[in-house]
Amino acid sequence: MEKISNDADTLEMLDARYLMHPFTDARANLQGGSMVIDRGEGIFVYDSSGKKYLEAVAGLWSVGLGFSERRLIDAAVRQMEKLPYYHTFTKKSHAPQIELAARLIEMAPVPMSKAFFTNSGSEANDTAIKMIWYRSNAMGEEKRKKIISRKRGYHGITIAAASLTGISVDHQSFDLPLPGFLHVTAPHYYREGQEGESEDAFSTRLVNEIEALILAEGPETVAAFFAEPVMGAGGVIVPPDGYWEKLQPILKKYGIILVADEVICGFGRTGCMFGSQTFGIEPDMMILSKQLSSSYLPISAILMNDMVFEPIADESHAIGAFAHGFTNGGNPTAAAVAIEVLNIMEERDLMAHIKDVSIHFQARLRALGMSSTLVGEARGVGLIGALELVTDKVARSSAWPVGQLAGYAFNLLENKGVIARVMGDTLAFSPPLIITREQVDMIFDRVEQVLVQVENEIRSGKFQ
Ligand SMILES: Cc1ncc(COP(=O)(O)O)c(C=O)c1O
Repeated sequence: MEKISNDADTLEMLDARYLMHPFTDARANLQGGSMVIDRGEGIFVYDSSGKKYLEAVAGLWSVGLGFSERRLIDAAVRQMEKLPYYHTFTKKSHAPQIELAARLIEMAPVPMSKAFFTNSGSEANDTAIKMIWYRSNAMGEEKRKKIISRKRGYHGITIAAASLTGISVDHQSFDLPLPGFLHVTAPHYYREGQEGESEDAFSTRLVNEIEALILAEGPETVAAFFAEPVMGAGGVIVPPDGYWEKLQPILKKYGIILVADEVICGFGRTGCMFGSQTFGIEPDMMILSKQLSSSYLPISAILMNDMVFEPIADESHAIGAFAHGFTNGGNPTAAAVAIEVLNIMEERDLMAHIKDVSIHFQARLRALGMSSTLVGEARGVGLIGALELVTDKVARSSAWPVGQLAGYAFNLLENKGVIARVMGDTLAFSPPLIITREQVDMIFDRVEQVLVQVENEIRSGKFQ
């Protein structure tokens, strides 16, 4: 294995032979395997041939503190030496999970009562759904089980979380979504706004659509509304003016639980500690993961307020137990790493750094919206942003099949040593939160070069 891991071609060959990858064309991977990443340093990663890349999406929007934070490694080692594993089933507990729960409840933007730990965003969303159904039964509202989420929302891939997700490829051939999962229009003004409609009027229309759906289904059957403060994997969609302000009273009116999926937005991504703060959202439940541990170890959390917790507590008392949990939920080593992430964020005043560097990040992103004929919309907030590519800015369309333009730009960018994310014809950026202004320039200087190259190739007929 020593010899093999020094040989990039061989590793790729072994990858093709032995691995089936998530979100990858399994047939195509048989031809040559995937890019093998060997090591990380700060906001950079190196592939197995030694080529250096600026990781402009922080892995999967998740490695907030970069790829070589010594303190996180030391925190994991310290905890592993003391107690590498213990569970929290059947009235057992351990200090890292208790401390992390207390810290998260303390930092929550609205009063929260309890934390429950899981291992991934998908598990956390599945758990939240089960809690919500359990609560409805506890309250004698057995019909209140339907869940509303948004088209283009991403909430994960387990059976219930994938049902929440509003992206068709995540349902196709999986026989999903499950019944009772309802999807409403994505709050994307650029794509969904009507001619002459103001952003505020667009928000009113979407909220009216949601209320009409609730009334058509029967308010007594609708249990919860799940949403990301900023939609990530659906294309970095920042909600329009007035959306959350108008929506929340409607949910309250019908007794519908609001769940903020902060898996991407949490821990600084949108310029506040939580996306809920950036957009004035007051959730009853919050879903946290990814930057919670800077993704060094798997961990996720559900926070819930008393309105959610109290009926669940009663029901579990009547039954004898809340019969749900994962062997590794809140693993002490993962929890110790998450605590250290919070320590680092506090000690280094990372929020001040994010506020400062994101001004430059957003300015560079939006400048491309003005300067490039290929950018239909430049959008984002804090340290998350996207460029939606078109060839006709007025018609907001591309002359090529969906994905061809951005896919080509994405490959050119990768050749230049920048890893972005491509979703349809949208290029997304969500770099580690420790990125500097100079490193922001490294990303957008190269993006600019790539867009100019693609413009030239379109003009000369080379890009077909
Ligand atoms: C908003 C959101 N929720 C949930 C998930 C699912 O998380 P995981 O991949 O850890 O299951 C993701 C993953 O990208 C996400 O972006």
